[in-house]
Amino acid sequence: MAGAELIGKEEIKEVMDVLRTGVLARYAFDKERQGIWKVRDFEKAFAKYTGAKYALGVTSGSAALKIALTALDVGPGDEVICPAFTFMATYEAVLEVGGIPVMADIDDTLNLDPDDIPNKVTPRTKAVIPVHMCGAPARIDKIIKTAKKHKILVLEDNAQGCGASFKGRKLGTFGHMGIFSFDHYKTITTGEGGLVITNDRDLYHRAEWYHDHGHDHLSPVSRALDGRTILGFNYRMNEIQGALGLAQIRKLDRVIAAQRKNKAAIKEALAPIPGLKFRAIPDPEGDSATFLGFNLPEEEQTLAFQKALKAEGIDTVRFKDNFWHYVPNWEHFLAKSTANSKQHPFSDPRNRKVAYSRKAIPHAEDLLGRTLIMGMNVKMPAAKIRAIRKGIEKAAKIL
Ligand SMILES: Cc1ncc(COP(=O)(O)O)c(C=O)c1O
Repeated sequence: MAGAELIGKEEIKEVMDVLRTGVLARYAFDKERQGIWKVRDFEKAFAKYTGAKYALGVTSGSAALKIALTALDVGPGDEVICPAFTFMATYEAVLEVGGIPVMADIDDTLNLDPDDIPNKVTPRTKAVIPVHMCGAPARIDKIIKTAKKHKILVLEDNAQGCGASFKGRKLGTFGHMGIFSFDHYKTITTGEGGLVITNDRDLYHRAEWYHDHGHDHLSPVSRALDGRTILGFNYRMNEIQGALGLAQIRKLDRVIAAQRKNKAAIKEALAPIPGLKFRAIPDPEGDSATFLGFNLPEEEQTLAFQKALKAEGIDTVRFKDNFWHYVPNWEHFLAKSTANSKQHPFSDPRNRKVAYSRKAIPHAEDLLGRTLIMGMNVKMPAAKIRAIRKGIEKAAKIL
Protein backbone atom coordinates (compact mmCIF):
# COMPACT_ATOMS: atom_id res chain seq x y z
CA MET A 1 0.00 0.00 0.00
CA ALA A 2 3.07 2.19 -0.14
CA GLY A 3 2.35 5.91 0.46
CA ALA A 4 -0.89 5.19 2.31
CA GLU A 5 1.14 3.35 4.96
CA LEU A 6 3.09 6.50 5.77
CA ILE A 7 0.23 8.96 6.21
CA GLY A 8 1.11 10.90 9.34
CA LYS A 9 1.84 14.27 10.82
CA GLU A 10 3.32 15.73 7.61
CA GLU A 11 0.07 15.09 5.73
CA ILE A 12 -1.96 16.44 8.66
CA LYS A 13 0.11 19.63 8.72
CA GLU A 14 -0.26 20.23 4.98
CA VAL A 15 -4.02 19.59 5.07
CA MET A 16 -4.43 21.84 8.12
CA ASP A 17 -2.73 24.69 6.22
CA VAL A 18 -5.56 24.44 3.72
CA LEU A 19 -8.37 24.04 6.24
CA ARG A 20 -7.18 27.10 8.15
CA THR A 21 -7.68 29.25 5.05
CA GLY A 22 -11.03 27.67 4.21
CA VAL A 23 -10.12 27.74 0.50
CA LEU A 24 -10.41 24.22 -0.91
CA ALA A 25 -10.33 25.17 -4.60
CA ARG A 26 -7.08 25.38 -6.53
CA TYR A 27 -7.97 28.50 -8.50
CA ALA A 28 -8.99 32.01 -7.43
CA PHE A 29 -9.72 33.37 -3.90
CA ASP A 30 -6.25 34.89 -3.93
CA LYS A 31 -6.78 37.06 -0.85
CA GLU A 32 -8.57 34.47 1.29
CA ARG A 33 -6.01 31.72 0.66
CA GLN A 34 -3.23 33.69 2.37
CA GLY A 35 -0.50 32.54 0.02
CA ILE A 36 -1.45 28.84 0.23
CA TRP A 37 -1.41 27.17 -3.21
CA LYS A 38 -1.03 23.46 -2.51
CA VAL A 39 -1.93 22.02 -5.93
CA ARG A 40 0.42 24.49 -7.60
CA ASP A 41 3.22 23.60 -5.17
CA PHE A 42 2.60 19.89 -5.62
CA GLU A 43 2.78 20.28 -9.41
CA LYS A 44 6.06 22.19 -9.08
CA ALA A 45 7.51 19.55 -6.74
CA PHE A 46 6.36 16.76 -9.06
CA ALA A 47 7.81 18.43 -12.16
CA LYS A 48 11.12 18.87 -10.32
CA TYR A 49 11.13 15.26 -9.10
CA THR A 50 10.47 13.79 -12.55
CA GLY A 51 12.45 16.34 -14.53
CA ALA A 52 9.39 17.23 -16.63
CA LYS A 53 8.83 20.85 -17.65
CA TYR A 54 5.11 20.86 -16.91
CA ALA A 55 2.86 19.02 -14.45
CA LEU A 56 -0.90 19.27 -14.10
CA GLY A 57 -2.73 17.82 -11.09
CA VAL A 58 -6.14 16.29 -11.91
CA THR A 59 -8.89 14.26 -10.25
CA SER A 60 -7.68 10.72 -11.04
CA GLY A 61 -5.30 8.67 -13.15
CA SER A 62 -8.24 7.75 -15.39
CA ALA A 63 -9.03 11.44 -15.93
CA ALA A 64 -5.33 12.09 -16.57
CA LEU A 65 -5.40 9.53 -19.41
CA LYS A 66 -8.46 11.14 -20.96
CA ILE A 67 -7.03 14.63 -20.62
CA ALA A 68 -3.69 13.62 -22.13
CA LEU A 69 -5.37 11.84 -25.06
CA THR A 70 -7.49 14.92 -25.64
CA ALA A 71 -4.46 17.21 -25.50
CA LEU A 72 -2.74 14.91 -28.03
CA ASP A 73 -5.79 15.34 -30.26
CA VAL A 74 -6.70 11.66 -30.19
CA GLY A 75 -10.37 11.45 -31.08
CA PRO A 76 -13.08 9.72 -33.11
CA GLY A 77 -11.72 7.28 -35.66
CA ASP A 78 -8.22 7.17 -34.17
CA GLU A 79 -6.73 3.86 -33.13
CA VAL A 80 -4.53 3.61 -30.05
CA ILE A 81 -2.28 0.62 -29.39
CA CYS A 82 -2.48 -0.59 -25.77
CA PRO A 83 -1.01 -3.65 -24.06
CA ALA A 84 -3.25 -6.63 -23.21
CA PHE A 85 -2.04 -6.43 -19.60
CA THR A 86 -3.13 -3.14 -18.06
CA PHE A 87 -5.85 -1.74 -15.84
CA MET A 88 -9.13 -1.17 -17.65
CA ALA A 89 -8.80 2.64 -17.39
CA THR A 90 -6.26 2.64 -20.25
CA TYR A 91 -8.86 1.19 -22.63
CA GLU A 92 -11.75 3.17 -21.14
CA ALA A 93 -9.89 6.45 -21.68
CA VAL A 94 -9.38 5.68 -25.38
CA LEU A 95 -13.10 4.91 -25.73
CA GLU A 96 -13.98 8.06 -23.76
CA VAL A 97 -12.34 10.24 -26.41
CA GLY A 98 -14.05 8.24 -29.17
CA GLY A 99 -10.96 6.28 -30.19
CA ILE A 100 -10.55 2.54 -30.67
CA PRO A 101 -8.10 0.64 -28.47
CA VAL A 102 -6.03 -1.94 -30.33
CA MET A 103 -4.70 -4.73 -28.15
CA ALA A 104 -1.00 -5.63 -28.38
CA ASP A 105 1.08 -8.36 -26.78
CA ILE A 106 3.50 -8.10 -23.87
CA ASP A 107 7.08 -9.32 -23.56
CA ASP A 108 9.01 -10.80 -20.63
CA THR A 109 8.92 -7.41 -18.86
CA LEU A 110 5.12 -8.06 -18.68
CA ASN A 111 4.78 -4.68 -20.41
CA LEU A 112 4.02 -3.74 -24.02
CA ASP A 113 6.19 -5.66 -26.48
CA PRO A 114 7.85 -3.09 -28.77
CA ASP A 115 8.13 -5.75 -31.47
CA ASP A 116 4.36 -6.14 -31.62
CA ILE A 117 3.74 -2.43 -32.34
CA PRO A 118 4.47 -2.68 -36.11
CA ASN A 119 1.98 -5.60 -36.36
CA LYS A 120 -0.75 -3.41 -34.93
CA VAL A 121 -0.10 -0.16 -36.79
CA THR A 122 -2.68 0.80 -39.43
CA PRO A 123 -3.17 4.10 -41.29
CA ARG A 124 -5.59 5.01 -38.46
CA THR A 125 -3.09 4.56 -35.63
CA LYS A 126 -2.57 7.84 -33.82
CA ALA A 127 -0.87 6.81 -30.60
CA VAL A 128 0.49 4.05 -28.44
CA ILE A 129 0.13 3.77 -24.65
CA PRO A 130 2.94 1.82 -23.02
CA VAL A 131 1.91 0.98 -19.45
CA HIS A 132 4.62 0.48 -16.84
CA MET A 133 2.78 -2.23 -14.95
CA CYS A 134 3.48 -3.21 -11.38
CA GLY A 135 6.07 -0.49 -10.81
CA ALA A 136 8.69 -1.52 -13.37
CA PRO A 137 9.64 -0.08 -16.75
CA ALA A 138 8.68 -1.30 -20.18
CA ARG A 139 11.41 -1.38 -22.85
CA ILE A 140 10.60 2.28 -23.28
CA ASP A 141 13.68 3.15 -25.39
CA LYS A 142 12.67 0.64 -28.05
CA ILE A 143 9.01 1.65 -27.83
CA ILE A 144 9.88 5.31 -28.43
CA LYS A 145 12.12 4.36 -31.37
CA THR A 146 9.42 2.20 -32.93
CA ALA A 147 6.72 4.84 -32.40
CA LYS A 148 8.94 7.47 -34.06
CA LYS A 149 9.51 5.21 -37.03
CA HIS A 150 5.74 4.81 -37.47
CA LYS A 151 5.04 8.48 -36.69
CA ILE A 152 2.71 7.78 -33.81
CA LEU A 153 2.39 9.63 -30.51
CA VAL A 154 3.39 8.09 -27.17
CA LEU A 155 1.44 8.50 -23.94
CA GLU A 156 3.04 6.69 -21.00
CA ASP A 157 0.56 5.27 -18.52
CA ASN A 158 2.72 5.39 -15.44
CA ALA A 159 -0.14 5.10 -12.94
CA GLN A 160 1.64 2.19 -11.29
CA GLY A 161 5.24 3.31 -11.68
CA CYS A 162 5.49 6.62 -9.84
CA GLY A 163 9.17 7.26 -9.01
CA ALA A 164 10.42 4.44 -11.24
CA SER A 165 12.96 5.19 -13.95
CA PHE A 166 14.76 3.81 -16.97
CA LYS A 167 18.51 4.44 -17.28
CA GLY A 168 18.37 7.36 -14.88
CA ARG A 169 15.38 9.09 -16.43
CA LYS A 170 11.99 9.01 -14.69
CA LEU A 171 9.19 7.08 -16.35
CA GLY A 172 6.54 9.33 -17.78
CA THR A 173 9.10 11.67 -19.36
CA PHE A 174 9.91 9.52 -22.42
CA GLY A 175 6.64 9.95 -24.28
CA HIS A 176 4.92 13.10 -25.52
CA MET A 177 2.96 12.95 -22.28
CA GLY A 178 2.92 10.80 -19.15
CA ILE A 179 0.26 10.19 -16.54
CA PHE A 180 0.19 9.13 -12.88
CA SER A 181 -2.44 7.95 -10.42
CA PHE A 182 -2.57 8.76 -6.73
CA ASP A 183 -5.47 6.53 -5.78
CA HIS A 184 -5.26 4.80 -2.42
CA TYR A 185 -3.24 1.80 -3.72
CA LYS A 186 -0.53 3.74 -5.46
CA THR A 187 3.11 4.49 -4.60
CA ILE A 188 2.05 7.89 -3.31
CA THR A 189 -1.56 8.76 -2.67
CA THR A 190 -3.91 11.70 -2.41
CA GLY A 191 -6.92 9.43 -1.80
CA GLU A 192 -8.03 9.92 -5.37
CA GLY A 193 -6.04 11.99 -7.82
CA GLY A 194 -3.80 11.97 -10.84
CA LEU A 195 -1.32 14.03 -12.78
CA VAL A 196 -0.23 14.70 -16.35
CA ILE A 197 3.35 15.60 -17.27
CA THR A 198 4.89 16.80 -20.51
CA ASN A 199 7.80 18.84 -21.83
CA ASP A 200 5.65 20.39 -24.53
CA ARG A 201 4.19 23.78 -23.73
CA ASP A 202 1.32 23.51 -26.20
CA LEU A 203 0.30 20.07 -24.97
CA TYR A 204 0.42 21.33 -21.39
CA HIS A 205 -1.85 24.24 -22.23
CA ARG A 206 -4.32 22.06 -24.09
CA ALA A 207 -4.44 19.73 -21.07
CA GLU A 208 -4.77 22.63 -18.66
CA TRP A 209 -7.58 24.25 -20.65
CA TYR A 210 -9.48 21.02 -21.18
CA HIS A 211 -9.36 20.01 -17.50
CA ASP A 212 -11.00 23.30 -16.46
CA HIS A 213 -13.76 24.13 -18.96
CA GLY A 214 -11.38 25.96 -21.28
CA HIS A 215 -10.31 28.65 -18.76
CA ASP A 216 -7.08 30.20 -20.03
CA HIS A 217 -6.03 30.99 -16.42
CA LEU A 218 -4.57 34.30 -17.54
CA SER A 219 -6.71 36.87 -15.74
CA PRO A 220 -4.75 38.25 -12.78
CA VAL A 221 -7.89 39.62 -11.14
CA SER A 222 -10.80 37.26 -11.53
CA ARG A 223 -11.56 33.79 -12.80
CA ALA A 224 -14.73 35.23 -14.32
CA LEU A 225 -12.56 37.33 -16.65
CA ASP A 226 -10.50 34.40 -17.95
CA GLY A 227 -10.55 33.91 -21.71
CA ARG A 228 -12.30 30.84 -23.14
CA THR A 229 -10.09 28.56 -25.22
CA ILE A 230 -11.49 25.10 -26.03
CA LEU A 231 -14.51 23.30 -24.67
CA GLY A 232 -13.54 21.18 -21.73
CA PHE A 233 -14.82 19.71 -18.53
CA ASN A 234 -14.03 19.71 -14.82
CA TYR A 235 -11.16 17.49 -13.74
CA ARG A 236 -9.61 19.95 -11.26
CA MET A 237 -7.56 18.65 -8.36
CA ASN A 238 -8.53 20.27 -5.06
CA GLU A 239 -6.30 21.82 -2.41
CA ILE A 240 -6.69 18.95 0.06
CA GLN A 241 -5.41 16.55 -2.58
CA GLY A 242 -2.60 18.96 -3.41
CA ALA A 243 -1.66 19.18 0.27
CA LEU A 244 -1.56 15.39 0.60
CA GLY A 245 0.47 15.12 -2.60
CA LEU A 246 3.04 17.60 -1.30
CA ALA A 247 3.58 15.63 1.89
CA GLN A 248 3.63 12.33 0.01
CA ILE A 249 6.11 13.27 -2.71
CA ARG A 250 8.64 14.12 -0.03
CA LYS A 251 8.33 10.50 1.11
CA LEU A 252 8.49 8.90 -2.34
CA ASP A 253 12.18 8.00 -2.31
CA ARG A 254 11.78 6.57 1.20
CA VAL A 255 8.84 4.43 0.01
CA ILE A 256 10.85 3.07 -2.91
CA ALA A 257 13.97 2.38 -0.83
CA ALA A 258 11.95 0.42 1.75
CA GLN A 259 10.13 -1.58 -0.93
CA ARG A 260 13.44 -2.41 -2.65
CA LYS A 261 14.93 -3.69 0.59
CA ASN A 262 11.90 -5.87 1.31
CA LYS A 263 11.74 -7.14 -2.24
CA ALA A 264 15.42 -8.10 -2.23
CA ALA A 265 14.96 -10.11 0.98
CA ILE A 266 12.00 -12.03 -0.46
CA LYS A 267 13.72 -12.59 -3.81
CA GLU A 268 16.57 -14.31 -1.98
CA ALA A 269 14.16 -16.95 -0.70
CA LEU A 270 12.65 -17.55 -4.16
CA ALA A 271 15.93 -17.60 -6.11
CA PRO A 272 16.97 -21.22 -5.34
CA ILE A 273 13.69 -22.70 -6.65
CA PRO A 274 14.57 -24.77 -9.74
CA GLY A 275 13.20 -23.31 -12.97
CA LEU A 276 11.96 -20.11 -11.30
CA LYS A 277 12.68 -16.93 -13.24
CA PHE A 278 12.11 -13.40 -12.09
CA ARG A 279 10.19 -10.96 -14.23
CA ALA A 280 12.60 -9.25 -16.65
CA ILE A 281 13.25 -5.66 -15.62
CA PRO A 282 15.09 -3.75 -18.35
CA ASP A 283 16.71 -1.48 -15.79
CA PRO A 284 16.63 -3.02 -12.28
CA GLU A 285 17.96 0.26 -10.80
CA GLY A 286 14.77 1.92 -11.99
CA ASP A 287 12.35 -0.52 -10.36
CA SER A 288 10.03 1.12 -7.84
CA ALA A 289 9.68 -2.35 -6.30
CA THR A 290 5.98 -2.07 -5.54
CA PHE A 291 5.62 -5.65 -6.78
CA LEU A 292 7.68 -8.79 -7.16
CA GLY A 293 6.99 -10.97 -10.19
CA PHE A 294 8.34 -14.44 -10.96
CA ASN A 295 7.41 -17.32 -13.22
CA LEU A 296 7.71 -21.09 -13.31
CA PRO A 297 8.09 -23.26 -16.43
CA GLU A 298 4.53 -24.68 -16.39
CA GLU A 299 1.08 -23.23 -15.75
CA GLU A 300 -0.04 -26.18 -13.59
CA GLN A 301 3.05 -25.92 -11.42
CA THR A 302 2.36 -22.21 -11.02
CA LEU A 303 -1.20 -22.83 -9.85
CA ALA A 304 0.00 -25.50 -7.41
CA PHE A 305 2.71 -23.21 -6.04
CA GLN A 306 0.22 -20.37 -5.67
CA LYS A 307 -2.04 -22.66 -3.64
CA ALA A 308 0.86 -23.83 -1.47
CA LEU A 309 1.91 -20.22 -0.85
CA LYS A 310 -1.67 -19.31 0.08
CA ALA A 311 -1.66 -22.16 2.63
CA GLU A 312 1.36 -20.43 4.19
CA GLY A 313 -0.53 -17.13 4.31
CA ILE A 314 1.27 -15.64 1.28
CA ASP A 315 -1.01 -13.97 -1.27
CA THR A 316 -0.06 -13.73 -4.92
CA VAL A 317 -1.96 -12.76 -8.07
CA ARG A 318 -1.90 -14.72 -11.32
CA PHE A 319 -3.02 -12.02 -13.72
CA LYS A 320 -4.36 -14.46 -16.32
CA ASP A 321 -7.21 -14.97 -13.83
CA ASN A 322 -7.69 -11.30 -13.05
CA PHE A 323 -10.89 -9.57 -14.10
CA TRP A 324 -9.63 -5.97 -14.16
CA HIS A 325 -6.15 -6.10 -15.65
CA TYR A 326 -6.31 -8.55 -18.55
CA VAL A 327 -8.32 -7.69 -21.68
CA PRO A 328 -9.56 -11.23 -22.58
CA ASN A 329 -11.30 -11.39 -19.18
CA TRP A 330 -13.27 -8.14 -19.63
CA GLU A 331 -16.55 -9.68 -20.76
CA HIS A 332 -18.37 -6.31 -20.65
CA PHE A 333 -15.69 -4.70 -22.84
CA LEU A 334 -15.74 -7.62 -25.30
CA ALA A 335 -19.55 -7.37 -25.40
CA LYS A 336 -19.23 -3.62 -26.10
CA SER A 337 -21.40 -2.85 -23.07
CA THR A 338 -20.99 0.90 -23.13
CA ALA A 339 -22.74 2.95 -20.46
CA ASN A 340 -25.13 4.36 -23.01
CA SER A 341 -27.16 2.20 -25.39
CA LYS A 342 -25.46 3.55 -28.52
CA GLN A 343 -22.30 1.43 -28.15
CA HIS A 344 -20.24 4.39 -29.28
CA PRO A 345 -17.52 4.31 -30.60
CA PHE A 346 -17.64 0.57 -31.44
CA SER A 347 -20.82 1.03 -33.48
CA ASP A 348 -19.54 3.85 -35.68
CA PRO A 349 -19.44 2.35 -39.21
CA ARG A 350 -16.39 4.49 -40.02
CA ASN A 351 -14.32 2.59 -37.44
CA ARG A 352 -12.44 -0.58 -38.20
CA LYS A 353 -13.76 -3.66 -36.40
CA VAL A 354 -10.95 -4.65 -34.07
CA ALA A 355 -10.69 -8.17 -32.59
CA TYR A 356 -9.48 -8.88 -29.06
CA SER A 357 -8.61 -12.54 -29.38
CA ARG A 358 -6.40 -14.52 -27.03
CA LYS A 359 -4.69 -15.96 -30.11
CA ALA A 360 -3.35 -12.50 -30.96
CA ILE A 361 -1.43 -12.27 -27.68
CA PRO A 362 0.49 -15.56 -27.30
CA HIS A 363 3.13 -14.14 -24.93
CA ALA A 364 0.54 -12.68 -22.58
CA GLU A 365 -1.40 -15.96 -22.55
CA ASP A 366 1.75 -17.90 -21.78
CA LEU A 367 3.54 -15.51 -19.40
CA LEU A 368 0.57 -14.34 -17.37
CA GLY A 369 -0.44 -17.98 -16.90
CA ARG A 370 2.95 -18.84 -15.41
CA THR A 371 3.64 -15.64 -13.49
CA LEU A 372 2.81 -14.87 -9.87
CA ILE A 373 2.90 -11.32 -8.53
CA MET A 374 3.36 -10.39 -4.89
CA GLY A 375 2.66 -6.89 -3.56
CA MET A 376 5.43 -5.25 -1.53
CA ASN A 377 4.74 -3.05 1.46
CA VAL A 378 6.82 -0.27 2.96
CA LYS A 379 6.33 -1.59 6.47
CA MET A 380 7.43 -5.20 6.48
CA PRO A 381 9.05 -5.85 9.83
CA ALA A 382 11.91 -8.37 10.00
CA ALA A 383 9.60 -10.97 11.59
CA LYS A 384 7.14 -10.67 8.70
CA ILE A 385 9.91 -11.05 6.10
CA ARG A 386 11.25 -14.07 7.99
CA ALA A 387 7.77 -15.65 7.99
CA ILE A 388 7.37 -15.05 4.23
CA ARG A 389 10.78 -16.52 3.51
CA LYS A 390 9.99 -19.56 5.62
CA GLY A 391 6.59 -19.92 3.95
CA ILE A 392 8.23 -19.81 0.52
CA GLU A 393 10.71 -22.53 1.50
CA LYS A 394 7.89 -24.72 2.77
CA ALA A 395 5.62 -24.12 -0.23
CA ALA A 396 8.51 -24.83 -2.63
CA LYS A 397 8.65 -28.43 -1.38
CA ILE A 398 5.66 -29.28 -3.59
CA LEU A 399 7.59 -28.34 -6.74
C1 LIG B 1 -2.27 1.18 -15.24
C2 LIG B 1 -3.33 2.08 -14.67
N1 LIG B 1 -3.79 3.11 -15.41
C3 LIG B 1 -4.73 3.96 -14.94
C4 LIG B 1 -5.25 3.80 -13.68
C5 LIG B 1 -6.34 4.72 -13.23
O1 LIG B 1 -5.99 5.45 -12.10
P1 LIG B 1 -7.15 5.99 -11.10
O2 LIG B 1 -7.52 4.85 -10.20
O3 LIG B 1 -6.43 7.07 -10.34
O4 LIG B 1 -8.24 6.50 -11.93
C6 LIG B 1 -4.81 2.75 -12.87
C7 LIG B 1 -5.37 2.54 -11.52
O5 LIG B 1 -5.30 1.49 -10.94
C8 LIG B 1 -3.82 1.87 -13.37
O6 LIG B 1 -3.36 0.86 -12.66
